[in-house]
Amino acid sequence: MYDRRKFLKLTAVTASLTAISKYAPAMPAIKAAAKNLPIVISTWDFGVAANKEAWKTLEKGGRALDAVEAGVKIPEADMNNHTVGRAGYPDRDGKVTLDACIMDEFGNCGSVAAMENIAHPISVARLVMEKTPHVMLVGDGATQFAVEQGFKKEKLLTPESYTAWQKWLKTAKYSPVLNIENKQHRPGSKYNHDTIGMLAIDAKGNISGACTTSGMAFKLHGRVGDSPIIGAGLYVDNEVGGATSTGVGEEVIRNVGSFLVVELMRQGYSPEDACKEAVNRIIKKKPETAKEIQVGFLAINKKGEYGAYAIQEGFSFAVCDEKQQDLLIPGKSFYKEKK
Ligand code: GLY
Repeated sequence: MYDRRKFLKLTAVTASLTAISKYAPAMPAIKAAAKNLPIVISTWDFGVAANKEAWKTLEKGGRALDAVEAGVKIPEADMNNHTVGRAGYPDRDGKVTLDACIMDEFGNCGSVAAMENIAHPISVARLVMEKTPHVMLVGDGATQFAVEQGFKKEKLLTPESYTAWQKWLKTAKYSPVLNIENKQHRPGSKYNHDTIGMLAIDAKGNISGACTTSGMAFKLHGRVGDSPIIGAGLYVDNEVGGATSTGVGEEVIRNVGSFLVVELMRQGYSPEDACKEAVNRIIKKKPETAKEIQVGFLAINKKGEYGAYAIQEGFSFAVCDEKQQDLLIPGKSFYKEKK
């Protein structure tokens, strides 16, 4: 039967879409002329090993989505990595809660946040994307879903993480210290910590990304950072490029950082300039906070050009393509430039 209400609604939608396309500025897709495909890039020194794993999929002509999932599972499983996955430091209550998200070339995405007792949050995020009508599952619901999907439930708090937590408890204030993750020293780098964000373009030119973390060490129970938030910790637009972030997630969320970087690339910014502008906005909004924290963005455009920018020096990113599988590049930073 003819449904007049439906018809009127459709007419109204069509009219408003026409209005948008008439008056909105053009948003051109970057015309792909990439030569260095496939390629995978990721945050921090631990990105080198992760990229190598992702490369196994990419070099065989595999899909970027499979590559980024396999890649970030390396730091998730690394017992020496206390900022991502299995051996991540707990929250202030001694609970290890993990965050991750994934996004593919079709704009499909999935995410888990504050999930306990499951070692590979990225794979659960992928199943949220592929097997549910939802984008994000959190807390007990995420764990329940993972178990239903066949994931093993396990205790994640390692002896090393337990010791670090006990040490922190001796002086800890009840409120979280915003930049505490910056104080987790690893030899040789003041700010070497945190999330792995990975972006890959496969041989067909399709882009996917993944982002996974145990978040801020000793955070308030239930705290969720940028990493599982689509648009904050990760964003992919297959016409333009992808971006991901690392560092203090609160500031990234406030600025919808990764989405911003991709939209700036759509407007013609290079990946590095887009990351720099996103960092500048964080600094402009909270200059005093920014002096004390680290945030870094990493981006790639459809042409396979990449770049990064951080607030503080010490950020690094790893690049892997046919020419070189273990390239590690120091990221440019606001404060290094100012010194
Ligand atoms: N970027 C990781 C977090 O803030 O949780």
